[in-house]
Amino acid sequence: MRSDTDRLLPSSPVPDLTAHLEGGGGRGLEAALALAPDAVIDLIEASGLRGRGGAGFPTARKWRGVKATAADAGSGLSLVANAAEGEPGTYKDRTLIAEQPYAFLEGICIALHASGAGEAFIGIKEKFTHPVERLVAALAEIVEAGWAGAERIQVVTGPDAYLFGEETGMLEVIEGNLPMPRIVKPFEQGLHGTSTMPNPAIVNNVETLSHVAHILAEGPEWFRQAGTDTSPGTMIFTVVGDVANPGVYELALGTPLRTLLEDIAGATDIKAVYSGVSNAVITPQMLDTPLGFDEMRVAGAGMGSGGFVVYDHSRNIVDVLSVLLNFLAIESCGQCNACKLGNGEMAAILAKVQRGEAQQTDLEALLKRSHTVTDQNRCFLPVGSQIMVGSTVEAFVDEFVATVERGEPTPADLPTPLVEEIDENNGDVTYHERYHLKQADWSYADEDPGAERLEALRNG
Ligand SMILES: Cc1cc2nc3c(=O)[nH]c(=O)nc-3n(C[C@H](O)[C@H](O)[C@H](O)COP(=O)(O)O)c2cc1C
Ligand code: SF4
Repeated sequence: MRSDTDRLLPSSPVPDLTAHLEGGGGRGLEAALALAPDAVIDLIEASGLRGRGGAGFPTARKWRGVKATAADAGSGLSLVANAAEGEPGTYKDRTLIAEQPYAFLEGICIALHASGAGEAFIGIKEKFTHPVERLVAALAEIVEAGWAGAERIQVVTGPDAYLFGEETGMLEVIEGNLPMPRIVKPFEQGLHGTSTMPNPAIVNNVETLSHVAHILAEGPEWFRQAGTDTSPGTMIFTVVGDVANPGVYELALGTPLRTLLEDIAGATDIKAVYSGVSNAVITPQMLDTPLGFDEMRVAGAGMGSGGFVVYDHSRNIVDVLSVLLNFLAIESCGQCNACKLGNGEMAAILAKVQRGEAQQTDLEALLKRSHTVTDQNRCFLPVGSQIMVGSTVEAFVDEFVATVERGEPTPADLPTPLVEEIDENNGDVTYHERYHLKQADWSYADEDPGAERLEALRNG
């Protein structure tokens, strides 16, 4: 079972625009164009749609805020569709684009009309070759078909970096730079913005925009037939790790987390679960929490972008935290000292515990550093480190202390859970095969030309 509602995820990939239209596609854009832009936003507001990119921010409020900033300044605005999908444990945006790119593009055309944005950019990793190909082909089809706004959409491919998905990092990449987050938020200043001409940007996730097409086609009441009052609709979840059926599943929000992890993904022995790397660890006591933005937050965790990595009791929690924190230490861009150095120091402490060489004072240093890692942070990345370290040590303090006291190396064989592919037929998950070679300066260890150059110099 991939979907309990048959909303976003099709039963088989939609092959072309004709098939999309025959399946009822295109009605959302038609309905939107028959309405004034603000009336479209009213419908999105009535649906209660919240962003599926991580924070669950109300979509209509974001659109209105950006429009107001632009109107106040007399400047233009733009739309950015975030298809970077860099969160560990997540694979839903690539699945959506590969299987149903037309609803996503329809959502973009609707958002262009509703917001008055002059142009739209889709930021997607260059390495996602199949989704990029599908997107480019589908875009050409809707341009050819004359969909309103289609000719103002551009696909921008970007680097294999976590910060490409951070909204201001994405603006930088669209402008031709590295994904270095900005202090100023997109709703204040967007692409090529200045203090007098801010050009603010609406940044929305792939799944959020795909929902928009269905809401316009079917209406906000239909959208609210699934989900809870404060988290309406369905959401696409990814589950990987120690489960029998890893995969991508669309469920009504409000479904208990236990249903997703145990009944659907087949987890039988849950020790710790992480929804990406920005939220607190989920322990077995929290499994009956409904999957909702507020419900998960109240339970002390968060839903992130709906990607869950499950670890069973065969895993040492130090290995688990180490692999996740090491990811953040590498991906930190270094613009803020406390973030780059603090994450690096915490990763080094955890590696020391894993080698069996740590003292209790190292655990104290880990907790101390987790408090300062967010100092002067430009973006949310180190907040994730702080939350993950604090919650994991709190939940598993006895195991941390016992591991240190044992003074022996831990198993330490965990991959960084960056999903490259999920084969739902045989349950195989492929993770980023080269991530263990990625270094803190974003270079790869096997791309070091030092030995080659020295040899060349020695040979004259
Ligand atoms: C470090 C970091 C990485 C992020 N990566 C992604 C990503 O890969 N995809 C995504 O949609 N949002 C990502 N986000 C969230 C975006 O900044 C932004 O909030 C989101 O795209 C907004 O879309 P929404 O309102 O539709 O949820 C990331 C945020 C941070 C702090
Ligand atoms: S907080 Fe960290 S990742 Fe974010 S901009 Fe600063 S150094 Fe870079």
